[in-house]
Amino acid sequence: MLELDAVSYRYPGYARQVLADVSLAIGSGEIVGLVGRNESGKSTLCLVASGLAPVSVGGVLAGEVRIDGTATAGLRPFELASRVGLVFQNPNTQRSGVTATVFEEVALGPVNLGLPVAETVERTHWALRTLRIEALADRDPARLSGGQAQLVAIASILAMRPPHLVLDEPTAQLDPEGTRLVGEALQALAGTGAALLVAEHKTDLLDRLCSRVVALDGGRVAMDGPAAIVLADPALEQLGVERPARHRIAGEVAAAGLVLPGAIA
Ligand SMILES: Nc1ncnc2c1ncn2[C@@H]1O[C@H](COP(=O)(O)OP(=O)(O)OP(=O)(O)O)[C@@H](O)[C@H]1O
Ligand SMILES: [Mg+2]
Repeated sequence: MLELDAVSYRYPGYARQVLADVSLAIGSGEIVGLVGRNESGKSTLCLVASGLAPVSVGGVLAGEVRIDGTATAGLRPFELASRVGLVFQNPNTQRSGVTATVFEEVALGPVNLGLPVAETVERTHWALRTLRIEALADRDPARLSGGQAQLVAIASILAMRPPHLVLDEPTAQLDPEGTRLVGEALQALAGTGAALLVAEHKTDLLDRLCSRVVALDGGRVAMDGPAAIVLADPALEQLGVERPARHRIAGEVAAAGLVLPGAIA
């Protein structure tokens, strides 16, 4: 379980709070979607929920973030890494820069966890296979397309089999097929009991994946509820979030005074 308890956060050297009084709990096997306009604090919340801020990034945190009951503030970076994974918004931020092939890049996490070679190789193949990028195994990770780099970044986190996972716009650069594969991988991970937080502008994906959706506005929680209710709420548009196509179309049909066949009582 991932829990944020009345969390406020300031980046190092800044007086302004970027997150204010955010409370959130993600249970085992649950996928929670995080939406909000640019600069609403989604990436910051991802850093805080994964413990990277303040443990590695610094800054000032008030309130408490807990992973399976343990406060992140007291953990060291390697202890965090074995409890929760973070997929960054920009895959280039995540790329290690020290590997020559995609295979080595994806294997790096398991190697750093100290896993035996056979298990490292097995997990690396599994992660590449899950995202259908085996064909990239021998490529230079620095010379990939944006979408390929994003899939490699996700594979390198999946290979660590983190008990919990935070993903910051994991499909921003992906085509519909890549987006679908990532969605399936996340559902599989949730099926193993992981708690997942997914920041995304693609609400159609969240509509398929999530049990709950949280909307941020200016670093505060503006909406939090069952995905089916939050994603259907026209108030989302005021928060800079486009609703899933099925809700927008239903709204436009109703506004035009049309009655769809099957909707007649
Ligand atoms: N490293 C940093 N130092 C100081 N301020 C930062 C830092 N990173 C982000 N901010 C500020 O925090 C606020 C929230 O930014 P954040 O990146 O969390 O938003 P976001 O919702 O992820 O936006 P986007 O949709 O553009 O990715 C912004 O005002 C931003 O300027
Ligand atoms: Mg962001």
